[in-house]
Amino acid sequence: MTETQRGAAIETMFEEVRRYPPDPGFTANANAQAELYELDFEELWAKESQRVTWFEPWKTLLEWEPPYAKWYLGGKLNVCFNCVDRHVEAGKGGKVAFHWEGEPEDDRREITFADLQADVVRFANALKELGVGKGTPVGIYMGMVPECPVAMLACARLGAPHTVVFGGFSADSLSDRLNDMECEVLITQDEAWRRGTTVPLKRNADEALESSSGVKKCVVLRRTQGEVSMERGRDVFWNEIVEGKSDDPQSCPCEPMDSEDLLYLLYTSGTTAKPKGIAHTTAGYLVGVATTHHYIFDVKPESVYWCAADVGWVTGHSYIVYGPLCNGTTSVMYEGTPDFPDKDRWWDIVERYKVDILYTAPTAIRSHMKWGPEHAERHDLSSLRLLGSVGEPINPEAWIWYRDHIGGGGTPVVDTWWQTETGMILISPLPGLTTTKPGSATKPFPGIDAAVFDEQGNEVGPGGGGYLVLRRPWPAMLRGIYKEHDRYVETYWSKYPGVYFAGDGARIDEDGDFWLLGRVDDVMNVSGHRISTIEVESALVDHQEVAEAAVCGRMDPTTGQAIVAFVTLKGGAEGSPEKLAELRNHVGTKIGAIAKPANIVFTPELPKTRSGKIMRRLLRDVAENRPLGDTTTLADPTVVEEIRDRGTTDQTEE
Ligand code: WTA
Repeated sequence: MTETQRGAAIETMFEEVRRYPPDPGFTANANAQAELYELDFEELWAKESQRVTWFEPWKTLLEWEPPYAKWYLGGKLNVCFNCVDRHVEAGKGGKVAFHWEGEPEDDRREITFADLQADVVRFANALKELGVGKGTPVGIYMGMVPECPVAMLACARLGAPHTVVFGGFSADSLSDRLNDMECEVLITQDEAWRRGTTVPLKRNADEALESSSGVKKCVVLRRTQGEVSMERGRDVFWNEIVEGKSDDPQSCPCEPMDSEDLLYLLYTSGTTAKPKGIAHTTAGYLVGVATTHHYIFDVKPESVYWCAADVGWVTGHSYIVYGPLCNGTTSVMYEGTPDFPDKDRWWDIVERYKVDILYTAPTAIRSHMKWGPEHAERHDLSSLRLLGSVGEPINPEAWIWYRDHIGGGGTPVVDTWWQTETGMILISPLPGLTTTKPGSATKPFPGIDAAVFDEQGNEVGPGGGGYLVLRRPWPAMLRGIYKEHDRYVETYWSKYPGVYFAGDGARIDEDGDFWLLGRVDDVMNVSGHRISTIEVESALVDHQEVAEAAVCGRMDPTTGQAIVAFVTLKGGAEGSPEKLAELRNHVGTKIGAIAKPANIVFTPELPKTRSGKIMRRLLRDVAENRPLGDTTTLADPTVVEEIRDRGTTDQTEE
């Protein structure tokens, strides 16, 4: 967000006077009671560690040597045991873990915890045969099929760290990640369903593996039965390798892992072209996600919880797979898009499974708003008890619409702030305790020390704005950027020494409630997905006809931000609608469809300072159709006028 945007956002939010105190009926039965805020943070995290089953108890709660924290030192445990086996051992094998709903209608599966255990054990046995063991890095490139969590859990069972690559990423993005983590095995599927058509995951994987020679084995799940080519000696079908494998948990015991052993890497965009491999370890992560899931979503033993994110993002890791399964929760998992075959698909699902907790992103809520409330009205949504939001700032209008049209006007709405790096939710209302305000994520979770700092590092008081920081470690925090110590220090710990800098702007109001205002760095947030401006720029200049490119975000009523690219072609060539489509596709190939610019403005030159720096601030003004700021430092002030003329007649596809 630019300064002006942020200013406007702050104003609308501060005019927001609606308050929703908790319903006393909800409070009486809420998982979170007021004492939770009173515990000292060490007491709290020691107590909550009992949520998890330990093979050997931990000895030291926390070792904090900034910027690295270690939690629950000396403990031994296994994430898969906690998410699967212990529930079966406790006699809950018959409980549904996932109500899975495929995109093609009537394609449904009910997977109990006992089923999940059998599937995980069989698959882990098969992975073992392929050479996967403790410490073997494994890549997972799948859609929203139950086998995706099965693959993650099988890795966790064996102690093999995984990286899940979102199915919307391109072959190039996949191979970059596989190479960075040095993955030896890739698990994928033939194709994924998407809005009635298919995404060729195996074909992308084949292309990726051409430049990821470290991957020796590729497991292919048949999902659509679409045609795939299989490389002899490397590629194997999932159904063939699990055939005849034992599903007896004793045949493949859960590897006792150290609290600080790597559980997974998840790559996220930073301010350079290279994504960061965010490292999450075993014990602190599991305690953090299970605890927040329990209190923030007020999950009950009989709950049917639905997190509508994709497993490929951190929300899916923490709140579809690890948190809910650790808590023994029944979840809904849906493969497809919200509007297939019709715009009421989600509400059909909520009604059919009697979902009581729904967790989604503001972008999705705004799409439903745009489609109109009549789709929800056709269904009985009275089972819903709580609604959650994540991924980007939620505008008060969408918050209210969500509560009124989906929640029937009575459900608490929890706006949860967190990041890939934080692993778990850090700022959120606690339902039953917190008075909510549309647009505010309200209070730090118990034990979390969040604050807003000004440029100089002074804490700003109520009513003030600045940068969001965290002053104390938390269990699920990242343990660094994989193989990039300096970048870890530079990105998060150098703006204010010893304090975690989140990269988000925030305001704090008179009640101490937090209002999150979007990124303050060169990272855009498109439909809740983080995309770096530099990453898109380098994808554009990778095209042989592009001389230079500059990228920025502009506001978009549905996707939050949309990507605008300013492009100069080589040899002074003029742009054309064909070139526009070609460049968009090129970005799709380099990164993935989510990163395709919404607009491309072709321009003979980019506005630069006399020292040659591109003036992005001016481009953002053009992208937003705002009056231009100071242009006096420009080498050639006429350039920006020219772009402005072109920008207003820019060529947009779709
Ligand atoms: C933004 C997603 C406002 C923020 C879990 C953060 C939010 C980035 C919220 C992390 C929220 C996430 N209100 N902004 N409730 N939740 N963000 O890593 O800019 O994909 O830094 O993690 O999303 O995105 P990430």
